[in-house]
Amino acid sequence: MRRPKVSIIGAGNIGGECARSIAMKQLADVVLLDIPDKVGVAQGKALDIACCAPIERFDATVKGTSDYADIAGSDVVVVTAGVPRKPGQSRDDLIGINTGIVKSVGENIKKHAPNAIVIVVSNPLDAMVYVMWKVTGFAPSRIIGQAGALDVARFREFLALKLGCSVEDITALLLGGHGDDMVPLPRFTSVSGIPIQQLLSDAVIDECVQRAKVGGGEIVKLMGTSAWYAPSAGTVQMVEAIIRDKKRIIPSAAYCEDEYGVAPGHKGKGLFVGVPCVLGDKGVEKIVQIQMTADEKKLMDESISHVRDLVAVVQRMFPEMA
Ligand code: LAC
Repeated sequence: MRRPKVSIIGAGNIGGECARSIAMKQLADVVLLDIPDKVGVAQGKALDIACCAPIERFDATVKGTSDYADIAGSDVVVVTAGVPRKPGQSRDDLIGINTGIVKSVGENIKKHAPNAIVIVVSNPLDAMVYVMWKVTGFAPSRIIGQAGALDVARFREFLALKLGCSVEDITALLLGGHGDDMVPLPRFTSVSGIPIQQLLSDAVIDECVQRAKVGGGEIVKLMGTSAWYAPSAGTVQMVEAIIRDKKRIIPSAAYCEDEYGVAPGHKGKGLFVGVPCVLGDKGVEKIVQIQMTADEKKLMDESISHVRDLVAVVQRMFPEMA
């Protein structure tokens, strides 16, 4: 039986950690690709990870390369390419440079791995997923952005710290874009089935909501660059759901038109925003619709309108992406 294959574009911190985790979990053989100038980093990290195998006891190959021909036959391609944030920068500040990078990566994926499911991690996330969709022309169900898996993990962690209980028992939901206006939803958050509002005061819940929203920025301030462990863990959770066809419901940036009122009745004019998705071997197999209160809907609409503004910036740069 053929082992699944996952290619990771960008051998930086997130790319390297995704490669390590995918190999260690024996999810797939891994290709780690970077530009020719950085091929040594891709090859070095790949070799270093491969040498963990005798200790960690996994059977998965890890290959570093700068040759896109090596991604042929990938089941999943993870795109981490692009520059990360520096202190004082928002994710949106990266749009100028990362749009060009993600565009060129997308052109290569279209050419060399036309059947892959693509998970985009590069920022500003919601706009970069859109760029990938436009450039590859793939069915939108095969283009997914990683954001909700990470953001909801941060929210759960902060709640667990307040509760002094295991994070495992906390389930939560978070919608919207991967910006500071993302929408954690306390009404859909519970601890072993107990609604969170019965365990924590509104003020403490709100503190956790606010901390989750700026959780990425908190880490950038501390270490001068973007986080990578939790972003990678979120990405690998999605890779696993797809490779193992688990049908997990994970909040992800998925293509919406009528869904969540993003662009009702406007065929082909939708956006990628964070919504609960069933992820399986066909990619986004279903978008789960939930009933929101007027307040929740208002927050979601604000977040969608922020994503729309970001996409408009991309479209001004590359009118063919309109
Ligand atoms: C973060 C980056 C990866 O939220 O977007 O940490």
